[in-house]
Amino acid sequence: MSSARPESRRVSAAAPAGATILRPARADDLAYICATERLPGYERLTGQWSHAEHVAAMARADTHYLVGSPSGGDPQGFVILQPLADPHEGTKIKRIAVTSPGAGFGRRLLHAVFDWVFTNTSSDRLWLDVFTHNERARHVYRVVGMSEDGLLRQAYRLPDGSCVDRVIMSILRSEWRAG
Ligand SMILES: CC(C)(COP(=O)(O)OP(=O)(O)OC[C@H]1O[C@@H](n2cnc3c(N)ncnc32)[C@H](O)[C@@H]1OP(=O)(O)O)[C@@H](O)C(=O)NCCC(=O)NCCS
Repeated sequence: MSSARPESRRVSAAAPAGATILRPARADDLAYICATERLPGYERLTGQWSHAEHVAAMARADTHYLVGSPSGGDPQGFVILQPLADPHEGTKIKRIAVTSPGAGFGRRLLHAVFDWVFTNTSSDRLWLDVFTHNERARHVYRVVGMSEDGLLRQAYRLPDGSCVDRVIMSILRSEWRAG
């Protein structure tokens, strides 16, 4: 991991109760990750990589994979951070997906990821882009404190050939610290 800048303390004030355990993903988590990003309907919501593409991404110095679970059980979601800590743009959540959407885990996972990024990297900004039609994800990102920074029109071609808009959303270190 690069650009470490540990913080002495921090748990977002808005984080819901209940432990969420994050750990670095291992090669043997890739079957879970590939299966999760291929859950029915996810092809319109998030990218999908082959196993080989994940292996290559996982080996990159600017990429970090995390899996999350409630209280350390089986993974219930994963996050890919890429770039991990760009000096200008900060950390990007390249991909996030959970096993059982709508059950409340995504919100907990995001709070845990915010804590991880702002504790373990020098990034002052954590950001992502989300398809405008992904109303569930946009809602969750707003609820956990992310702001909409701007719109990329017709900026992604889905597997069905249609082109869709993406919204850039972010949270700053100062906003995370304020809770
Ligand atoms: C995005 C994702 C990580 C969020 O995690 P999650 O576990 O589903 O989120 P939660 O259960 O914590 O919260 C879901 C919220 O969305 C709301 N919601 C559900 N469907 C919705 C919709 N169609 N429009 C708006 N809000 C919606 C729920 O009411 C809930 O909000 P509330 O807690 O204020 O009531 C998860 O849904 C997921 O993996 N989706 C598929 C992949 C994906 O979209 N990845 C993101 C790509 S940018």
